[in-house]
Amino acid sequence: MEKYLIRGGNPLRGEVTVGGAKNAAVAILSATVLAEGVCTIENVPDIRDVYTTLKILTELGAGVKFINKTTVEIDTTHLSTTMIPYELTCNMRASYYFWGCLLARYGHAKVSMPGGCDFGVRPIDQHKKGFEALGAAVDIEDGMLDVHADKLIGNQVYFDKVSVGATMNVMLAAVRATGVTIMENVAKEPHIVDLANFLNSMGANIMGAGTDIIKIHGVSEMHGTDYAIIPDQIEAGTYMVAAAATGGDVLVKNVIPKHMKPITTKLEDMGVIVEEFDEAIRIAAPNRLSKIDIKTLPYPGFPTDMQPQMAVVACLAEGTSTITEGVWDNRFRYVYELQKMGADIKVDGKMAVIEGIECFKAAPVKATDLRAGAAVVIAGLCSDGETEVEDIYHIERGYEDFELKLCSLGADIKKIEVPDSQATAAI
Ligand code: EPU
Repeated sequence: MEKYLIRGGNPLRGEVTVGGAKNAAVAILSATVLAEGVCTIENVPDIRDVYTTLKILTELGAGVKFINKTTVEIDTTHLSTTMIPYELTCNMRASYYFWGCLLARYGHAKVSMPGGCDFGVRPIDQHKKGFEALGAAVDIEDGMLDVHADKLIGNQVYFDKVSVGATMNVMLAAVRATGVTIMENVAKEPHIVDLANFLNSMGANIMGAGTDIIKIHGVSEMHGTDYAIIPDQIEAGTYMVAAAATGGDVLVKNVIPKHMKPITTKLEDMGVIVEEFDEAIRIAAPNRLSKIDIKTLPYPGFPTDMQPQMAVVACLAEGTSTITEGVWDNRFRYVYELQKMGADIKVDGKMAVIEGIECFKAAPVKATDLRAGAAVVIAGLCSDGETEVEDIYHIERGYEDFELKLCSLGADIKKIEVPDSQATAAI
């Protein structure tokens, strides 16, 4: 088992380059199933969820070949199965995109229920509602979701809840349905627009992605394409917050500043200097930040995937901050880890009340999920000694070369291998 050892106290300084967006990549790579041909995808992030997605594609019979570290060629001309077993889906939420893709191409998918971060109940009723509206039958048996249809027919789909996954999945199923599908109350995240652009480059006819209503004219055929994934909003935001928390000065490169607005606005409110360039953002932080009130919401609201990292900066700000989680039922499991490091946080339901402290105390902590892991690492960078972070496999699901990028900014962080018995003894 691997863990991070972090010696806190170094303000981050320098330049860091962000990779491709995880939550766009996992959908776009899955969507190559619809091409029945060869796709070349660029700006693919070097993260575990990408490798899991590529492994599923290989299992389905696709040819997968890396051209270089960030470009992959996927040939889905001939696939051999529409079934994906549990071992491949249990660690990743985004395996559910194969429901929509396989259903659209073959009229059938049998895929184990997805894994992913634990934020309480993660229902799939809106995915089901969308597939059923298109004429598919959905059964769940022995932990497998079986979705099948003789023919998919376009329809109106009104989502009861704004869902990134359901919006993308129903879009994937509807691109090859007969007739027109109109999806209302959809998610508007940048990765929704990226997936729609990718599908359109494969011959789909999707309009309105990025607004509340998406209209899809079904097409009978799609084809291979070359496409570059957008930069990762959350990876960029994580380095911006790490720079702010450590009192640093960092240029974050390969970003789309417009996508970062919900985050840059809050950092500016705290007193951070934010300078925007065409494809980069500079963050420079004063000695002490001001308190902040945040509520997470679907895009263009403040992203829930930045909530734990932002809580760390709020811990170091002067005064009382509040963070309200507006997307997930239980996204405060990391609070206990920050409390071990001296954080003064009280959680009441979906709200955390945070009293400012001067500095975190070094402690052995765990990454309880992907973004929670990034948060405890940032707290470690602002601690008074050596912090150990366990269960870093969560972090590696979504951050490429995390410790190397932080090291290049002057952080004192290293990854070490520890025997499993020693890791348990340290808990
Ligand atoms: N929801 C339902 N029914 C559904 C689907 C969702 O009630 O059928 C609810 C959820 O319980 C939640 C809300 O709707 O309360 C939003 O869930 P959504 O479907 O948007 O989440 P997701 O698609 O499962 C993606 C990201 C998450 C991110 C959320 C919200 C991927 C692979 N995952 O999850 O990313 O938190 O959208 O933006 O795209 C992360 O990257 O760390 C991460 C967890």
